[in-house]
Amino acid sequence: MQRDDDEPQDAEIVEDTAPGPVPAPDRDPGVLGSVISDDRSPSFESVGFRLAPGAAVSPGMFVVAEAGTAGEPTFVLCRVLGAHEVNPHEDALSSTVRSVLPFGSQYAKEGSSTVIYRIARTEPLEEFPLDHDGRPGDPHEVRSIPLAGGLVLAAGADLVQTAMGFPDSTDAGLHIGAMHTDPSVPVTLVKDAVQRHVLIVGGIGSGKSYTRGVLGEELHLHGVPQVNIDVNGEMISACAELGGVNLVPGAGFTLPLSALTREDLLESVSGVQRGTNIETLIGYTFDVHQREVRQNRRTTFGVDDLVDEIETQAPLLQMQAANTLRPAQQRTRALERMNYIGQAFNWETALVPGAFVNIDCRSMLIADLRIITAAVARALQGLARHRRIPFTVLSIDEFHLVAPNDDRNVSTQVLRRSLGSDGTTASGCS
Ligand SMILES: Nc1ncnc2c1ncn2[C@@H]1O[C@H](COP(=O)(O)OP(=O)(O)O)[C@@H](O)[C@H]1O
Ligand SMILES: [Mg+2]
Repeated sequence: MQRDDDEPQDAEIVEDTAPGPVPAPDRDPGVLGSVISDDRSPSFESVGFRLAPGAAVSPGMFVVAEAGTAGEPTFVLCRVLGAHEVNPHEDALSSTVRSVLPFGSQYAKEGSSTVIYRIARTEPLEEFPLDHDGRPGDPHEVRSIPLAGGLVLAAGADLVQTAMGFPDSTDAGLHIGAMHTDPSVPVTLVKDAVQRHVLIVGGIGSGKSYTRGVLGEELHLHGVPQVNIDVNGEMISACAELGGVNLVPGAGFTLPLSALTREDLLESVSGVQRGTNIETLIGYTFDVHQREVRQNRRTTFGVDDLVDEIETQAPLLQMQAANTLRPAQQRTRALERMNYIGQAFNWETALVPGAFVNIDCRSMLIADLRIITAAVARALQGLARHRRIPFTVLSIDEFHLVAPNDDRNVSTQVLRRSLGSDGTTASGCS
């Protein structure tokens, strides 16, 4: 039989007896615990605290820790990152010993035990000075470390609202819901937030598209026009309900060839080997037309124009050999499969205050989706730069499909550029 010494040296172990009553927390029920000192805590990066018995925290929850000095008391707002329990009775050895002992053993639980406790880890965010009546003033960056032994309490809704920069009224911004860890805290983004980029991330089914929908309603309410690239068709009914317009590429929504980049075009022209004369001839001819459009010498061009122009340009490049010229023209003809190439969409008419333009991209090939997304982004960027459309939000669901992750995704490099500075903003769900 194992000797009792194999159990942790804890005088509280009682064998074959029920645990005694757990004493009530020795502190105020509003107190979550007290700051501990170890290798990491307390510091400007991490504040750990021992949880009072019975106190509960969850990841993301906001807490405040006493800080400052007696003369100038402050508290530091911290966000809970995680928590863990320390219980030497349940380390691998002790737990094994207990399971092989021929008799049951019990030990005192958290609150009665001197060796069992829980530690929560937090990251300090902001520091609030306290006035004479203990009311918080304006927050500033953390300047004092909450000292070990100091109390940690749950942060009030007002404080969280102030620290997060949420406006006082839900009507004053984009009201998107309530704090997951405290439903009494309404989450309202200041209107300026949409001038920056918004990235909504989370696991499958976590509510990213739903959140985009809520943002859509709020933007509509505030009269901000929006364009959405709808990969799964999830925004179709919401768009209709908000009086918006659902457009299908190739059936109501088209792009001119000039909306493509040379790289887009060459990727779309099937079967052209890189670095060949055929590629050079098609690319060069496309550039010639693009230049004419940019210099207002031509309003637009189509596949027929490109095919004809190849004939004109080939001799200038000394590429009129039949095995270059004809294949280049045939390949260029293949662009006719792109049924979404046509007239330019009139964004200036469509993007009135509160407008919602939803581009239904269900069942599109990824390559086409990329071209359309990038062309829409470029068009909006250009129009906004010349103040020809009001500030517009562009959002892209399933953003990972079009996000430029390497230099080969040239078509969507435009999404990497700062759209916000031009009076548009991009938001993505991935
Ligand atoms: N805040 C919410 N309230 C009610 N239903 C929600 C909420 N967020 C998501 N849902 C529902 O959960 C499901 C998955 O949400 P969705 O936004 O499609 O997830 P994701 O885009 O992250 O994959 C949908 O049926 C959606 O209507
Ligand atoms: Mg989704």
